[in-house]
Amino acid sequence: MTALSAGANHPPACADAVIPPSPLRWLADDQAIEVIDQPRLPHAVAWCRLSSRDACAEAIRSMQIRGAPLIGAVAAWGLVFALQQDAGDAYLDASLTLLAATRPTAVNLAWALARLERRLRPLPVADRAAVAAAEARALCQEDVDQNRRIGQHGLQLMQGIHARVQRPVRVLTHCNAGWLATVGWGTALAPVYLAHAAGVPVEVLVDETRPRNQGALTAWELGQAGIPHHYLADNAGGHLMQHGLVDIVLVGADRVSRQGDVCNKIGTYLKALAAQDNQVPFYAAVPSPTMDWAITDALHEIPIEERSAEEVRWVAGRLSSGALAQVQVSPDGSPCRNPAFDVTPARLITGLITEHGVFATTADGMRALQQVCQPLSR
Ligand code: MRU
Repeated sequence: MTALSAGANHPPACADAVIPPSPLRWLADDQAIEVIDQPRLPHAVAWCRLSSRDACAEAIRSMQIRGAPLIGAVAAWGLVFALQQDAGDAYLDASLTLLAATRPTAVNLAWALARLERRLRPLPVADRAAVAAAEARALCQEDVDQNRRIGQHGLQLMQGIHARVQRPVRVLTHCNAGWLATVGWGTALAPVYLAHAAGVPVEVLVDETRPRNQGALTAWELGQAGIPHHYLADNAGGHLMQHGLVDIVLVGADRVSRQGDVCNKIGTYLKALAAQDNQVPFYAAVPSPTMDWAITDALHEIPIEERSAEEVRWVAGRLSSGALAQVQVSPDGSPCRNPAFDVTPARLITGLITEHGVFATTADGMRALQQVCQPLSR
């Protein structure tokens, strides 16, 4: 991965609601993509160029790019670059296997690879690379469109809450499900951006989201867009809900089962429990590629990524001197565990905000969602 111009290249501000910022752009000749190097945020904005299959795989594995929809998009480009090297069946198979193994939980990765494979496998070898690039571009553009539609459906929920409470709508969110996690708009943050643009006042409560602190990405996005927010220690949410300080919980998803269980960043489940105990509506924003219709019981069927213990042991940040540093927070000799995702059962979820509308996670709601979405899904 080549670092480009650190500190420059600020994406356009979110106030421009027509073209949302994107953490991914592709070169006109399809020979490379550029992505925002996310571990350097929120302290520096740096773009990196990826022009090979292995660079894309490493960017996903190391979380230089992250977020379920963006993982799928970068995997698709990784396959494009593989086929530009060698479009034969053996290399196609090896590349699919290599890219699929980079991160196991977010289904968007498998979805994107399966979509490209279906399109490419029947083609003559000579045509595959160009068609793969066209498909990767289409997939990216569809992600932006799906997220914009999620935003429009979520906006209606926000407008309803605002009409009732007659003050800024207080939204609690976990992890980063904003534009940095997608090709554009974000999923859980799309309703927030559209509400802000439509003049619905919002205040966002941003969970820190240890161990990798993706909440800092969310707070950074919101700050760029001029949206009021507070950055919270992860365990503050339940207390705020008990005191009536949260109107709605909005989270993203990495994989959703056919019965509506939502797998998302570790800690989401605890927020859903607190939300139910306090009658706070809890929604997950879910583009159709994040649905996994092949599984029913997410708790037992979704592989949960267990990441390096070092991510728990160390915290990255900026020292008062301005220098970036990593500091150890756990005692020497204490082993750490790092499950990266958890499953929130459908019974704790008020609804899924999808590009097709808002669906309850009841048997009827999920059946209705499957009917509209499965022909477009895998
Ligand atoms: O480990 P990450 O940062 O890839 O996890 C991201 C999340 O859990 C997001 O909430 C999810 O991918 C939805 S992104 C629109």
